[in-house]
Amino acid sequence: MCFFLISIIYFCYNHKRLTLIENNFILAIESSCDDTAAAVLNNREVLSNCIYNQNTIHTPYGGIVPELASRAHQSKITPIVNQALHEANIDKKDLNAIAYTQGPGLLGSLLVGSSFAKSMSLALKIPIIPIHHMHGHLLAHFIENNNYESPKFPFIGITVSGGHTQILYVKDYFDMGIIGNTLDDAIGEAFDKCGKQIGLSYPAGQQIDELAKTGDSKKFSFPISNLKGYNVSYSGVKTAFLNFIKNQEKKSPNFISENLNDICASLQYTLIKIILIKIEKIVADLNVSQIVIGGGVSANSELRKQLKNLSSLKKWNLFLPPVEYTTDNAAMIGIAAYYKLMKKRFGELTEICKPRLII
Ligand SMILES: Nc1ncnc2c1ncn2[C@@H]1O[C@H](COP(=O)(O)OP(=O)(O)OP(=O)(O)O)[C@@H](O)[C@H]1O
Ligand SMILES: [Mg+2]
Repeated sequence: MCFFLISIIYFCYNHKRLTLIENNFILAIESSCDDTAAAVLNNREVLSNCIYNQNTIHTPYGGIVPELASRAHQSKITPIVNQALHEANIDKKDLNAIAYTQGPGLLGSLLVGSSFAKSMSLALKIPIIPIHHMHGHLLAHFIENNNYESPKFPFIGITVSGGHTQILYVKDYFDMGIIGNTLDDAIGEAFDKCGKQIGLSYPAGQQIDELAKTGDSKKFSFPISNLKGYNVSYSGVKTAFLNFIKNQEKKSPNFISENLNDICASLQYTLIKIILIKIEKIVADLNVSQIVIGGGVSANSELRKQLKNLSSLKKWNLFLPPVEYTTDNAAMIGIAAYYKLMKKRFGELTEICKPRLII
């Protein structure tokens, strides 16, 4: 009798887990760095995608302060999740799974999102799905979009973001290998750190993009690293840029303000060129024509323009994400979770966050 009762309880608990419903509602939570984000997806369709951006908290410090980031996640996660459910017009009882970013990222930030997701999964008795943040950046291309066809496997994935600059050979949704990586700074980090040197606030990437639009990219030149193979390096250009600015300011104290647009255009040209050289090389070497870009720096208008020009010249099939899915968002975590849900690849409540989770 006792065994019979336990079996019924176990069956009820796992009912949603075992029955893969065709119409799945997924709540996704992203809290790897300084954006508290939640989204609701109905299969591949995004019903809501809400973000609380912490820039105003970190800007006075010129970069992310991990302790402040975790505190802000703690205070914003409940309102953001409620907002995502409200905008999607979904009751939490209708959810079929909860996804969260397991890593890589800041431990204190990851812990807030994962603990919240685990508690909800336990309370609602639905599966939990841990997601690799960088899978999310690439799989954002599979979000349902009538104006947009998703890439076909295999493809070359390029992630250009605040913490990563990677070139990947992507065989399937979760089967990908790194073939090129930054040996030091990420491209977004280079945008932000160089921007700081010329008085721009954190994060500087988007401001440099705007200022560069009316600047001359040939006015100043900085070293364009070109390592052997497919790895890249951004520390050289960063140091050269810092020294250049210091020297110029010694000669002319108003150098930055008098040349801001040209400085930004020249810097942006260099940072973009470093990755473009590698993309051209890899396409030629591997003879793969599908190029899929992801991450915050893929919002950069000049990078997008250059990639489009190269693609039409070289007949590549280029996939640039819609701008709302470039920087951190929870919709990209939700779409990655959808493909795990389809394969019943669920997580466990005992799984821990991994700040250095590898692909
Ligand atoms: N228009 C733009 N031009 C250049 N850089 C940009 C632009 N918009 C955003 N960025 C840069 O994108 C980065 C943020 O991207 P994202 O949110 O993907 O990074 P992250 O999550 O901090 O890092 P990661 O994804 O590697 O963990 C910042 O470095 C920011 O300056
Ligand atoms: Mg990111």
